Order: sequence, then C-alpha cells, then structure tokens
Amino acid sequence: MNKVLVSLLLTLGISGMAHAAGDAAAGQGKAAVCGACHGADGNSPAPNFPKLAGQGERYLLKQLHDIKAGNRTVLEMTGLLTNLSDQDLADIAAYFSSQKMGVGAADPKLVARGQDIFRGGNLETGMPACTGCHSPDGSGNAAAGFPHLGGQHATYVAKQLTNFREGDRTNDGDSMIMRGIAAKLSNKDIAAVSSYIQGLH
Ligand code: HEC
Ligand code: HEC
Repeated sequence: MNKVLVSLLLTLGISGMAHAAGDAAAGQGKAAVCGACHGADGNSPAPNFPKLAGQGERYLLKQLHDIKAGNRTVLEMTGLLTNLSDQDLADIAAYFSSQKMGVGAADPKLVARGQDIFRGGNLETGMPACTGCHSPDGSGNAAAGFPHLGGQHATYVAKQLTNFREGDRTNDGDSMIMRGIAAKLSNKDIAAVSSYIQGLH
C-alpha cells in the first residue's frame, strides 16, 4: 500500500479491523448485565444512559475498548468490562448493533435551529455540517466508525458535545474531529442540535 493510503487508513482506524468478528447470538447473554442501564435490547429508558441498539458495531467496539482501557471515562461502568475478553466485547457489540434504535421527539421550539446546525453547519465559524459524517438521517457511517445519532437521547448527546468541547471526552483520535467541532458550538447550539437529533430518523 502507498503511504497516503496507509496514513488515511490509520487516521480512520481501519487498521484495527483485524479483530475477531462478533457473534450477536452469543452476545445477547453476555449483555444481560448491561441491560439494567442500557435496556435489554439497548434502547435505554433513561435519558442519561445512551441507546446502544442499532449503533454501528465498529463504533460500539471502539467505545468498549476505550472505556475498558480508561481512554474514555464512564464512572457508572467502572470495573464492569475488566473481566470481559476481546471476543466478549465483540459479541456484545454485534448483539446491540443488530437491534433497532427507537426514535424520540424533538422540542418544536428548538427544531429549526437544530436542523440548521445539523444540515448546514456554520459558514462563519467554518464548522462543517454534521450530515457529512453522521449522514442526513443521522444513521452515521457504520463502516467508517461514525456513530449513529438519530433517535439518541438529547440529554446524552448534549453531555457528549459538552464533554468534547470542555476536553472531558478525548477519544476522537489525533485529528480531534469532534473536539474541533464542539469548540464551535454554544450552549444554545448544543441544546438545539441535541433535541433535533433525538427526533431524527
Ligand atoms: C450502571 C449503569 C451502566 C451499566 C450497568 C452499563 N453502562 Fe454503559 N454507559 C453508562 C453510561 C452512564 C454511559 C454514558 C456515559 C457518558 O455520559 O459519557 C455509558 C456508555 C456506554 C457506551 C458508549 C455509548 C456511545 O454511544 O458512545 C457503551 C458502548 C456502553 N456503555 C456499553 C455498555 C456495556 C456493553 C455494558 C455491559 C457490559 C454497559 N455499558 C453497562 C451506564 C452503564
Ligand atoms: C468529519 C466527521 C464528523 C463530523 C463533520 C461530525 N462528526 Fe460527530 N463524530 C465523528 C466521529 C468519528 C465520532 C466518534 C468519535 C469516537 O470514536 O469516539 C463522532 C461522535 C459524535 C458524538 C458522540 C456519539 C455517542 O454516541 O457518544 C456526537 C454526539 C456527535 N459526534 C455529534 C456531532 C454533531 C452534532 C455534529 C455537527 C455539529 C458532528 N458530530 C459532526 C465524526 C464527525
């Protein structure tokens, strides 16, 4: 492979794809302990617990490795992944990914501003539209590891955008894609785009 391609693949993290494939059926049993917070099928009922159902497998697996290694802090999950093998994590990711994410509703007062940001970005600050990576319907790009956002709890989404902006979540790679984007979002922007995402499908 030529150098440019190799560095591109490394940037996107595609080199990590050599992992063993996950088995969704095996993952269902292993995911039982996760259901208390994330819902048995990954559609968590609580707004601060992210929905995992229908999330891209590659993205889920990366988060699991990041959380286990301490590269992303989730206090509620402290110690939970310690005794799970790489195969266990792959199976659990395959299971949740095979489920379907439910959709919520956007706040009608915020939807216009949220849609502008999601679809148009911000020309003045040079912030790209979210659609470029997360797709117009919010389904993301599973192969590239760009997460599915459509239907995700607004409370959770707003917390992630704030964490990226404040440097409390730093696992978006050397290119700092999401930290760069979140730096250009005001609190009002975050509230609006998060609400829009909750109703997006
Ligand atoms: C006690 C509650 C709790 C339990 C049990 C739990 N989680 Fe979580 N999990 C959370 C919270 C809270 C977050 C989000 C933290 C934040 O706001 O950044 C999270 C985040 C995640 C994420 C990141 C989602 C995303 O969209 O980036 C994944 C993946 C995940 N959990 C998988 C699991 C798996 C697999 C299990 C079972 C082995 C599990 N969790 C058990 C509370 C829990
Ligand atoms: C250039 C591509 C790109 C663009 C544009 C982009 N994102 Fe992202 N986004 C990503 C990637 C990649 C991740 C996953 C980072 C990681 O691996 O933890 C991510 C993660 C996220 C997450 C965390 C999801 C979760 O489940 O925890 C949210 C929320 C998010 N993006 C919202 C947005 C919003 C809102 C916009 C537009 C204002 C946007 N993104 C624009 C690439 C992008």
